[in-house]
Amino acid sequence: MERLWAVSTTQSVSYSIKRTRRCLDLDNRDLANAVGTDNRRTLVVVDSMVMQLYGPRIAAYFDRYAANWTVLPVEASERRKNDETTGRILREFDRFGLSRRRDAVVAIGGGVLTDLVGFAASLYRRGVPYLRVPTTLLGMVDASVGVKTGINFNGRKNRLGTYFPASQTIVDPEFLATLPDRQIANGMAEVIKIALVKDSGLFDSVDRDYSTARGFATDATTSGPIIDAAITAILEELEHNLWEANLRRLADFGHTFSPGFELRAQPLLYHGEAVAIDIALTCLVARNRALIDEATFSRIVSVLTRIGLPISHGCITDEILQAGLADSVLHRDGAQNIPLLTRIGAAVFAQDISPKELVAAAESLRSLHSRLIGAWMP
Ligand SMILES: NC(=O)c1ccc[n+]([C@@H]2O[C@H](COP(=O)([O-])OP(=O)(O)OC[C@H]3O[C@@H](n4cnc5c(N)ncnc54)[C@H](O)[C@@H]3O)[C@@H](O)[C@H]2O)c1
Repeated sequence: MERLWAVSTTQSVSYSIKRTRRCLDLDNRDLANAVGTDNRRTLVVVDSMVMQLYGPRIAAYFDRYAANWTVLPVEASERRKNDETTGRILREFDRFGLSRRRDAVVAIGGGVLTDLVGFAASLYRRGVPYLRVPTTLLGMVDASVGVKTGINFNGRKNRLGTYFPASQTIVDPEFLATLPDRQIANGMAEVIKIALVKDSGLFDSVDRDYSTARGFATDATTSGPIIDAAITAILEELEHNLWEANLRRLADFGHTFSPGFELRAQPLLYHGEAVAIDIALTCLVARNRALIDEATFSRIVSVLTRIGLPISHGCITDEILQAGLADSVLHRDGAQNIPLLTRIGAAVFAQDISPKELVAAAESLRSLHSRLIGAWMP
């Protein structure tokens, strides 16, 4: 005689993101409140570059607010976003004697660091709580907003990962003051991504108000509203589909082909740069299909290039594009689900982009890129 036990449950999730200013100032208690002021032991995992720049302020802040804290600097480059670095962080969790709920883990750094720490936190004791303090623009508007963690594996971008939200995230645009110009442009690619598929007003603001990376990094009146609008737009998109049950995701705009070439490019492409190329490519496909007009396409290309983002790269061969298409179809469970713009602020999902169409668009972009930018030199 057979028996069957069917289990069904739902997992409710709540987390918060607070945008503040100067979170390491001793009179700003936002981070202290997020950690909890009840004598919790705190392990602060910091991107080593951020440690060089902000180490004394981080130390002064936790000395003031945490009874017992330890800092762990981690070299967090895309090349080190791997199982080895994850193993090192996990061994440090063990050495610290991290308890299941009581202690606090704080991740301070860019998207690589927060993805690594989130991934490690999701594995350790099957999940320990953690907090994020993104210090790059890309982290503030994208990597530290949703619930995805991940590491590169087997030469593949973010091939291992989990859905594991940080309980709180503190966003402080003051960190942008020390971020190199190219990293500001890198983060702007994710702002443009979400603006193009969801928020035409945000795209207008970028087009109107962004003049230079330095200006953006140091002028809160420009960066503040753009960062706030980008977080709002991405959360609107993610909140109803946090576990990605629905694989038709507008947030995948710019992320269909980019994972296939981001790690291969020499010199290295940043994540946002690869996303910008993917955006330009799919926008050209949309223009070729008359979903958007020439003026809209030109405006998008003009904003991308003005910010300093590439729209093509020598490493993108026809084979890489076709492999990227095939891998995305695998990742999206047999469907292309490629967002194509119908206007700035709205998109549909294409299911029938042919390799030939893609290769032709990539070819046109190559010549447009060399006309507008010349050889890609970061
Ligand atoms: N989890 C997600 O949903 C999600 C979303 C988008 C991107 N990502 C991931 O994010 C990663 C990219 O993140 P990123 O662009 O922040 O790169 P990154 O973390 O490599 O940081 C970029 C560089 O800036 C340095 N840095 C960080 N903060 C600084 C500061 N305030 N001043 C000076 N230098 C600073 C870092 O040391 C690093 O060299 C990719 O691996 C991507 O896959 C994740």
